Amino acid sequence: MLLELENVTIPTFDKQRIIVNNVSFGVKEGSIHSIIGPNGSGKSTLAYTIMGLTNYKLKSGKIKFEDKDITDKTITERAQLGITLAWQEPARIEGLSVAKYISLGVKEKSRIKEKVKDVLQTVNLEPEKYVDRFIDDSLSGGERKRIELAAAIAMQPRLIILDEPDSGLDVIITEDFWNIFNKIKELNMTILLITHREDIGMVADYGTLLWRGEHLITDEFPKVMLQYCKKAGLKEFCKRALFKNGVKCFDDDYIDKIFEGVDLND
Ligand SMILES: Nc1ncnc2c1ncn2[C@@H]1O[C@H](COP(=O)(O)OP(=O)(O)OP(=O)(O)O)[C@@H](O)[C@H]1O
Ligand SMILES: [Mg+2]
Repeated sequence: MLLELENVTIPTFDKQRIIVNNVSFGVKEGSIHSIIGPNGSGKSTLAYTIMGLTNYKLKSGKIKFEDKDITDKTITERAQLGITLAWQEPARIEGLSVAKYISLGVKEKSRIKEKVKDVLQTVNLEPEKYVDRFIDDSLSGGERKRIELAAAIAMQPRLIILDEPDSGLDVIITEDFWNIFNKIKELNMTILLITHREDIGMVADYGTLLWRGEHLITDEFPKVMLQYCKKAGLKEFCKRALFKNGVKCFDDDYIDKIFEGVDLND
């Protein structure tokens, strides 16, 4: 496992309430792993805690990265180990060009130009059109998200945490996301993907379902999605939406059985 959470419990900043309760699961190296769950189930809190943002401290439990305990490591130390996070809302940094922004994270300083070009291509943006643009409101929301993703990839992290890269982005179609995620995977980066869009989540190999701060299941993604649908009472949606590479993940009969209460592992 690249990342392991062991009985992770996360309180609110004022420590009056628990947001994430006793959550354990692992993220396999080289996989796309999606965290799903309804609004307020604790997905972003978990993502920020894995990254080690200030105030996101465990009440109990342990976080391990490549078998090393990182529970008490700072955000900078975690970044040095190869963990990176892209935000739900991408940044606007006035006066900074796209090339400069991306190059900040490039380690091989002798290859900056090529690297900037490569990562822009990875996120399906034509480098010539974007390197000299500025990170401001003249870029569309979709372009900013892609550029931010490009900047994250440029850092060559081991684990890239994406919190709703699709939020508000009707413009980026599913195939485009799939294509980008698969390219990132080919670069030997592991992706922890938080998303509300099941069509995007389906790109994931594995999934974890959070429900009101509790861990319900970690398994192959379609199985996790099935359990999510069951919890949310979305049988017809489940029959309609769970496709992978154009093939239905489960027969309708099987879905009926699951909704009747047959254990997933039977
Ligand atoms: N610092 C905090 N203090 C108090 N409550 C908090 C704090 N941070 C998060 N919460 C609450 O914890 C719950 C989980 O929030 P979180 O943002 O992790 O959910 P989420 O699963 O990412 O939701 P969404 O799908 O809407 O993004 C929410 O009810 C939120 O209001
Ligand atoms: Mg969130």
